[in-house]
Amino acid sequence: MSSISEYLQGIHCMDRMLWFQLYLILLADVFLGSQAIEEQVFVTQPENLSVVEGATAILKCKVKNKQGILQWTRNDFALGKDRNLPSFERYSMVGNDDAMEYNLRIVNASMEDDALYQCQVTPTKDVAGIRSNTVRLTVLFRPDQPQILEAPIAPVILGEPTNITCEAKNGKPAAKISWYLNGQMMNRKLYSTEVRRKKNKLVDSIGHVLLVPKSEHSGKILECYAINEALTRPHKTSVKLDVQYPPDIMMQINVTGKIQEGMNVQLTCNGFANPQHIRWKWYRNGKHLSKQTGNTLNLPSISHVYNTNTITCEASNAVGSTRKEKKLNIEYGPRFITTTSHVAVDLEENAKLKCEAEGNPQPSIIWRKKSSHHILGSGSTLELRQVREADLGTYCCTATVVGFNEISRDVLLLKNGPPHILREKQLYTRKDETARIECIAISVPKPVNMYWMRNGKAIDYPSSERFSASDEELPYGMKSTLQIKNVHAEDFGSYNCSVTNKYGEDMAVITLLEEEVLPMPYIIGGAVGSVAVILIIILACVIYHKYKNTDSGTDSYTDSDSTMEKKKDVKSESPTLMDQWRQDYNKEFYRYSDNYDELYNSKSNNNAHVLHTEPYTLDPSNREGSMMPPAYDYVSRPGNDDVPGPADRYESNYNRTYVPRSFKSEITDTYTMPRLPPADLSNTKFATNV
Ligand SMILES: *[C@@H]1O[C@H](CO)[C@@H](O)[C@H](O)[C@H]1NC(C)=O
Ligand SMILES: *[C@@H]1O[C@H](CO)[C@@H](O)[C@H](O)[C@H]1NC(C)=O
Ligand SMILES: *[C@@H]1O[C@H](CO)[C@@H](O)[C@H](O)[C@H]1NC(C)=O
Ligand SMILES: *[C@@H]1O[C@H](CO)[C@@H](O)[C@H](O)[C@H]1NC(C)=O
Repeated sequence: MSSISEYLQGIHCMDRMLWFQLYLILLADVFLGSQAIEEQVFVTQPENLSVVEGATAILKCKVKNKQGILQWTRNDFALGKDRNLPSFERYSMVGNDDAMEYNLRIVNASMEDDALYQCQVTPTKDVAGIRSNTVRLTVLFRPDQPQILEAPIAPVILGEPTNITCEAKNGKPAAKISWYLNGQMMNRKLYSTEVRRKKNKLVDSIGHVLLVPKSEHSGKILECYAINEALTRPHKTSVKLDVQYPPDIMMQINVTGKIQEGMNVQLTCNGFANPQHIRWKWYRNGKHLSKQTGNTLNLPSISHVYNTNTITCEASNAVGSTRKEKKLNIEYGPRFITTTSHVAVDLEENAKLKCEAEGNPQPSIIWRKKSSHHILGSGSTLELRQVREADLGTYCCTATVVGFNEISRDVLLLKNGPPHILREKQLYTRKDETARIECIAISVPKPVNMYWMRNGKAIDYPSSERFSASDEELPYGMKSTLQIKNVHAEDFGSYNCSVTNKYGEDMAVITLLEEEVLPMPYIIGGAVGSVAVILIIILACVIYHKYKNTDSGTDSYTDSDSTMEKKKDVKSESPTLMDQWRQDYNKEFYRYSDNYDELYNSKSNNNAHVLHTEPYTLDPSNREGSMMPPAYDYVSRPGNDDVPGPADRYESNYNRTYVPRSFKSEITDTYTMPRLPPADLSNTKFATNV
């Protein structure tokens, strides 16, 4: 360095000595000829150079007429004069001495070598010093192997934009990141950032690709390439795309064509999903069916209450859930939804008979007069104008849905009139027992009131304590029951039942008689006596046959036989309308009691043929037949606990739905009705003694 400063000082003096020196040079040229001193000159100067870390770099420097000392500087710091450059282990100045080559060789290049270099030659007293260009030695660093954070398998969600990140750290210069999907270079939605290290000059490169996964990307390989000048071939890494998607499902029903009530229906949902594990849920009209966890829903013997219901299946996996739904259209046979068993009119007025039925498809309704084939009208209402006497009677409405059994119901057109009591003249009971005296009145319109008198006087219920009366409305009449507890001797006698409506009144007298209890000896005596009489008769017959045709005295036997037959006739008289009423009403009585099931079962066993005409009371599949079907779970099949039982139904619906089934004959006059065919009267009870 000192030689350089001396040389620089010398330059200062040049101005003053310029002319003198020029003179001397001319003189030397003239007198010394070729002996003049030549300038030092660079033959080869160093150039900017890049070298990969660990490799060898050579910065060139070759000088002609070298007089002074040659030295390299690194970032203006001289490295040394000796070719071996002992202070710098990996540095040396190489080249041919004769050729005056002083190339700076750096082996195993590292970060500290990344600097500015210059080759200098000091001046001597004869020649000036020289400096080369300042050049940069750039040491290149290979970036680390790139890393995709999601590797080796990147779960991505179908259609959901996702950033995949690839990092290539410690590059110099920064690595450039590029992406290949399935071998195709990607050039859209790429982002990259570079993070410079403070300590050294290395740079971390972070690349992102914004991928909108499609189903065809599933299983494809996404590659990340990282390259900079230190690399001849790029580093790369890859990730396999696992495109996840919520279930893609379809709902199927195993019934082809129309669904009819009672069919076994199975709904199945199937589909694909990634991840494959699917959780299934089922809904009926939006209500979760918590017991259904499979992909099938069985609806055995489907009820019509499912008609228009929406069944939904929901499939969920880790990614999301999908729903499919189906609205059920269940065809079912007709059933009556409102019932008026009768309509009462005044003559010359208009009457509207109603008969509303539901079904799928909607039932068609036709009207006929009972026991006539002539169709009077269609639709749920039959309007009759200016009713005449001949119009009164029983009408029959028939509801039909194609493919199902038709159903019919009777509606009576009655004339308003005074009440009419069905008479029962005598009633037997015993002392100290409870007697019930019933009084049944046919009354259209409904009776205003019914009351009891005893021996011509009104009964004072509060003071008597043992007497009580209760009324019960009947479809076209009223029943009043007078109950006498603990019958006393003075209770036997006449009871007067009166009934009044807007059109008039009726009254009936029922006599309560004491039933004699025969003492045991009488009974035994009676039995013995009967046996004796029979023996005598047999004997008499034998004698009679022996002496037949002998005298006319035997005629008396024939006579007595015929009279006996006549008496029998009276006893076995066909039941009248009154009997039918009693029968119906007694059945009603049972319905209200706990004996419903007995009655119900016996009906379905014995009267199966009535099914078509009385579906409301008989068809067991019709338990949901009320206007408001219960909102129960799909598992609620008829017979399950949550289906309303028969008792529930009758309690709420009885009054609307009941029509006496035996009331089937033509009515010519409201109160004088023809006889009905013999009915089973075995169960019939009336004015029961308990
Ligand atoms: C050498 O590198 C330096 C700094 O990077 C630059 O300024 C100069 O122009 C380069 N020289 C040549 C000859 O390229
Ligand atoms: C993806 O990364 C880029 C760059 O960092 C960012 O701008 C973008 O919002 C990211 N997108 C998503 C979906 O994360
Ligand atoms: C539908 O599936 C149910 C339940 O497996 C079965 O009982 C029924 O017979 C099937 N119906 C038809 C039409 O295949
Ligand atoms: C029954 O009561 C009516 C009045 O309600 C009365 O006119 C009639 O005489 C009574 N008959 C008997 C037998 O008591």
